[in-house]
Amino acid sequence: MVHPDEHQGEVLITSEELQAKVRELAAQINADYAGRDVLLVCVLKGAVLFLADLLRCLEVPAEVEFMAVSSYGAATETSGVVRVLKDLDRSIDGRHVLVVEDIVDSGLTLDYLLRMLEERRPASLEVCALLTKPERRQVQLEARYVGFEIPDRFVVGYGLDHDERLRGLPHIAALS
Ligand code: IMP
Repeated sequence: MVHPDEHQGEVLITSEELQAKVRELAAQINADYAGRDVLLVCVLKGAVLFLADLLRCLEVPAEVEFMAVSSYGAATETSGVVRVLKDLDRSIDGRHVLVVEDIVDSGLTLDYLLRMLEERRPASLEVCALLTKPERRQVQLEARYVGFEIPDRFVVGYGLDHDERLRGLPHIAALS
């Protein structure tokens, strides 16, 4: 469904579609992690709404930790080096870690993050990304759970921002 809107872009994924997908992803996670505790590592800030909805659909015991990262900026972006603005509060040693991401674009941020987390010896390390832009990928990256593949467009809403705005939209919209 596409609703052109001058200010908030064109709706790519409706709120209903998002909620249905979250339930679907949660069902997969519930099945895959049955009998295990999962530690959700939410990457701030974009993944917050996704995390909140996903968490409510999980039946496996789940704990939540937050991380904030930022790219070093245009000059070093291609190196994939990211700055950790907020690290985890607890050890992930021996834990079943599921990284909850809003969107995988080039994949560089997530790639860096996964390498960093891997060094901390989790029992398992997987990724649950709501959105992915396969056309933009610069690194080979396997996210175990992916909500939607989207075209190479800048999207906002459901946690995703444009200059810190529009995170509260209940749907995903593409800005022109
Ligand atoms: P990557 O390192 O290129 O994969 O960038 C990932 C991060 O860039 C995401 O976690 C978002 O914060 C941001 N990002 C990438 N594409 C978009 C978009 O279309 N809208 C909003 N943020 C985006």
